Amino acid sequence: MDTTFSKSKSKKISMITCYDFQTAQIAAKTEVDVLLVGDSLGMVFQGKESTREVTIEQMIYHTECVRRGAPEKIITTDLPLHTSLDPQKAVDASRRLIEAGATNVKIEGNNREILTALAERKIPFVGHAGLLPQSATDYKPKGRGEDRQVVLQQSLDIQEFGASMIVLECIPEELAKEITQRLEIPTIGIGAGRFCDGQVLVINDLLGLGRKVPKFVKKYANLEEIIYNAINNYILEIEKGVFPGQENIYK
Ligand code: KIV
Repeated sequence: MDTTFSKSKSKKISMITCYDFQTAQIAAKTEVDVLLVGDSLGMVFQGKESTREVTIEQMIYHTECVRRGAPEKIITTDLPLHTSLDPQKAVDASRRLIEAGATNVKIEGNNREILTALAERKIPFVGHAGLLPQSATDYKPKGRGEDRQVVLQQSLDIQEFGASMIVLECIPEELAKEITQRLEIPTIGIGAGRFCDGQVLVINDLLGLGRKVPKFVKKYANLEEIIYNAINNYILEIEKGVFPGQENIYK
């Protein structure tokens, strides 16, 4: 399996988050390039306020589920906050995630010690710049005004320290365009406009499942309505004695 991407003007890279076996099975039948076992699962799967409480055991569990459903796909798994604060912990956690089925890991920020520790041990990793949910105090766009230079430098560092790809989250389109032009590694945008080398969205958001979504999300389905109606129909049919019907009965 070719696990690296090169920048290409003709083919954009598609990435979605994925946390479970059945969704992975469906995604495996599509042409989606990368499944991201994101620590966003702390919010959309576990209902927590942030991604910060997600543990390495949980990321291993979800990586195993997704790998079972999508044996051939490239799977990127987030290093959860508690494992990405010192080089040895990051190396150990990355090895466990790769053992669980991840193709590579994703890590937020541009900490030189940690990123070079991964690179020196030949652990493939994807960087993450701009809005960094593990350390952010709010979810407002980053890279505006004086912060522009900070995000640009973050991105340059992440490439220099050995990332194979970089996620740019919630930054102005024009800044993402400049970063995309200056970097040799592909950029994957989420709330970073049209000019990145690829795009990523949280699967629950694009499917229209729960939670209020930010402006940059496009809903491709309204599963919340479909699920709500299905459950109500089920209840109604039980009450009316329509379900179970003849076809659902063992003789
Ligand atoms: O955890 C996640 O889902 C992510 C994406 C928002 C890029 O990091």
